Amino acid sequence: MTFIPGSLLVTGGAGFIGSNFIHSYIANNPTCSIINLDALTYAGNLNNLKGVEKHPGYSFVKGDICDAGLVATLLAEHNIDAVVHFAAESHVDRSITGPEIFVRTNVLGTQTLLEESRKHWQSGAVEDFRFLQISTDEVYGSLGDSGYFTETTPLAANSPYSASKAGADLLVRAYHETYGMPTLNTRCSNNYGPYHFPEKLIPLMIHNIINCRPLPVYGDGRNVRDWLHVRDHAAAVEVVLKKAASGSVYNIGGNNEWHNIDIVNLVCDLLDVRLGRKPGENRELITFVKDRPGHDRRYAIDATRLKNELDWEPARTFETGIQETIDWYLANQDWVAEVTSGAYREYYTTQYGDKA
Ligand code: NAD
Ligand code: DAU
Repeated sequence: MTFIPGSLLVTGGAGFIGSNFIHSYIANNPTCSIINLDALTYAGNLNNLKGVEKHPGYSFVKGDICDAGLVATLLAEHNIDAVVHFAAESHVDRSITGPEIFVRTNVLGTQTLLEESRKHWQSGAVEDFRFLQISTDEVYGSLGDSGYFTETTPLAANSPYSASKAGADLLVRAYHETYGMPTLNTRCSNNYGPYHFPEKLIPLMIHNIINCRPLPVYGDGRNVRDWLHVRDHAAAVEVVLKKAASGSVYNIGGNNEWHNIDIVNLVCDLLDVRLGRKPGENRELITFVKDRPGHDRRYAIDATRLKNELDWEPARTFETGIQETIDWYLANQDWVAEVTSGAYREYYTTQYGDKA
């Protein structure tokens, strides 16, 4: 049976994926009600929500998911019947230099949301309820040259980021098993698209190429990631929210594996054309730098379950999606300038030093 939420609490809706989800959900469900709870950390940006903030069913609350009182009030006052939980510290490199905030936000924050949701759901205030945990393929660890992660692959997280996400996923499982709470869990591969913060591979490379800066490629550049357009991820989350059975877990992926160096070469070549540079000119910016500690070699998602059971498949090809993404960054240089001012510069120097 299809579940149509009356009132959604979206956490982390000012971040990359959360904001794309809100844009896409409102477009598909024009009469919906959405409360966006976001602490506006360095990764949160209200400019990501231009165009939805005037929607009559949308409101923004600046606040912390670890604030139990605030979460309880929002759940009760807005009769929330679905929590879609994106809020997180999301960057692996930052988790290596400062893991503590990852445990606080990703583990404690998720537990706070789960606990307040449990009380709200058990109070009987709403007829039906769903808690959807947005997670990552990184909880499964690293693959060799062959094979895929399925929903039954054991969790084997390797970075402080992925360990904190695995901890959160297990808490979600525990709330379902222990209290019978109606939870859902999705685990997606690497996203790309508009509003992607330029600390992550694709937007960092686009930003540095435009500015003729070195392109830092970790290790031998042969690590593999499976890339999915963020709006395809958003569509999958909506399908899972509405159609999945309580307690279920779904992998989401693009079936689109790339070695990092091949992605970097592709972005270089597409920008040679767009920026009117000589063929091969941008590739000269590539600089191999020291590897990420504990760098997972390969991620590859088997999303068969989502396709067979809920009839979801990506709508975009990578060829179109990457070109559109590059064009979005070229057309939105004000957005990039704003997010790369101030604290970003400090982060960049600490992370890459004078190597890049
Ligand atoms: P992001 O870093 O761009 O955004 C995170 C958002 O969470 C920001 O708006 C930030 O302000 C907010 N936030 C952080 N701490 C908070 C707190 N304590 N209280 C309230 N809000 C807080 O992240 P993203 O890339 O959009 O990822 C969103 C979710 O999707 C995360 O849970 C991440 O683990 C998961 N995920 C990301 C990817 C990817 O490729 N980016 C892939 C799979 C899963
Ligand atoms: O797989 C899903 C995950 O994808 C999400 O859970 C994370 O939130 C998201 O950040 C992303 O994690 P990755 O570590 O895979 O993404 P990132 O863009 O940081 O790096 C992609 C690959 O590129 C990885 O192998 C490391 C490499 N890399 C990254 C950066 C930032 C470089 O070679 N140079 C760089 O400067």
